[in-house]
Amino acid sequence: TYVIALPCVDVMDKACVDECPVDCIYEGERMLYIHPDVCIDCGACEPACPVEAIYFEDDLPDEFIGYTAVNAAFVAAIGSPGGARRIGPVAGDHALVAALPPQIR
Ligand code: F3S
Ligand code: F3S
Repeated sequence: TYVIALPCVDVMDKACVDECPVDCIYEGERMLYIHPDVCIDCGACEPACPVEAIYFEDDLPDEFIGYTAVNAAFVAAIGSPGGARRIGPVAGDHALVAALPPQIR
């Protein structure tokens, strides 16, 4: 699967969402998350992100490795819905993300 990592937090450009053919990029309050069971590894989202927040899981920089679990846990916590557009933005974030200080860049 592809994974969204820390650089998305408090940026949420959302250019990635329009590229995804399977609508598996879910919106929280401070970042977006990829559903790992639905992502088909097409890679279309990765170059669309202006802050390089998206990586194929095997290519994640060491400091972002934990985000594979963060993405998976977030979509599991909201019931692993089938389609991000249908449910729209979700209130809240993964606990690790919610606890981050404001990411001013
Ligand atoms: Fe975030 Fe980049 Fe998408 S900032 S919302 S991963 S385009
Ligand atoms: Fe969608 Fe990106 Fe996966 S465009 S299918 S989340 S690689």
